[in-house]
Amino acid sequence: MTQKKLLRSLAGDAMDVPPVWLMRQAGRYLPEYRATRAKAGDFLSLCYNPELAAEVTLQPIRRYGFDAAILFADILLIPQALGADLWFVTGEGPRLSTITEASGMAGLKGKDDIHETLSPVYETVRILSQELPKETTLIGFAGAPWTVATYMIAGRGTPDQAPAHKLREEDNATFEALIDLLIEATIEYLDMQVKAGAEVVKLFDSWAGSLKGEAFDKYALAPAKRIIGELKSRHPDLPVIAFPREAGDKYIGFAKAVGADALAIDTSVDAAWAAEHLQGDSCVQGNLDPKLMVTGGEELDREARRICDALRGGPHIFNLGHGITPEADPENVHRLLEAVRG
Ligand code: CP3
Repeated sequence: MTQKKLLRSLAGDAMDVPPVWLMRQAGRYLPEYRATRAKAGDFLSLCYNPELAAEVTLQPIRRYGFDAAILFADILLIPQALGADLWFVTGEGPRLSTITEASGMAGLKGKDDIHETLSPVYETVRILSQELPKETTLIGFAGAPWTVATYMIAGRGTPDQAPAHKLREEDNATFEALIDLLIEATIEYLDMQVKAGAEVVKLFDSWAGSLKGEAFDKYALAPAKRIIGELKSRHPDLPVIAFPREAGDKYIGFAKAVGADALAIDTSVDAAWAAEHLQGDSCVQGNLDPKLMVTGGEELDREARRICDALRGGPHIFNLGHGITPEADPENVHRLLEAVRG
């Protein structure tokens, strides 16, 4: 019954030509994105404007015909919906009010209070589920609790997530209260995205790689398992993509342990290794180096084909190992699609 290519891969089909989409496919490398963002005023106003957020989600679909569209929003909207201050400094990145002790938690709202702020996002999903071509799969998403917590604790992106590790070690009760709140809020947020029309959800744990050993199991694996388990109990047929970025050896067994249908891998993972160690458990999504979208040329063709060849024996979704960057050449995306689709 399922005809959409992305859903077939998520259901376990191996295909000669894998479905393709790119992380951050709606973004600053596209002139039409920059124009729409200017119309909205700024990035956050764009996220909360359903018509314009749907428009930028559709732009890369029109231009390239990707097999999936990912909802245009950000992982940091949840902290804002919970009551944190959030703003973006142009050229630098996000800034948030910080949580450094128990009193910071007391200032946050509850898991069921997020929908007032986030309702424009659900409206974007509803618009998209009407407007997308029938062969295109709509992906909803959220940040995983650990990654979102790293921004809420530090108030910004940090190279080594040191402030979050410090709170985890020195005031574990506050840290765990924050993780628990994020787990429950993320479940409600993704549940609403699915009810609005998201066909797949992806959980981005961009900083999972800085959790080691038991800490990885407690704060990357266990939250993903709880979120996915609860979502699947509410929506039994919902496919889920997990992305514990830079998990290294911890990628092994992760999809099975958390109940994910696909595991997204970063550029540090060899595709042949992924075929051997990961593809038996789930679909594998990845993992071209985003730098090649800047440099292009025959190396782009070669690398894209090498990844497809390595993963052809099992279910594969072609993607990058991380988001496409503002410096990428839009023409290189056409070149990539030619290399993958032939
Ligand atoms: O096209 C898509 O992928 C959908 C939309 C999307 C955005 N952010 C839009 C965005 C998605 C899925 C994200 C996820 C996200 N946001 C993550 C996880 C994935 C990853 O990249 O590791 C993280 C860590 C964030 C937080 C965030 N948002 C940061 C650190 C920044 C600033 C740095 C940067 O990459 O630009 C953002 C801003 C952001 N989110 C932009 C976009 C298109 C650029 C903002 C702009 O237009 O000025």
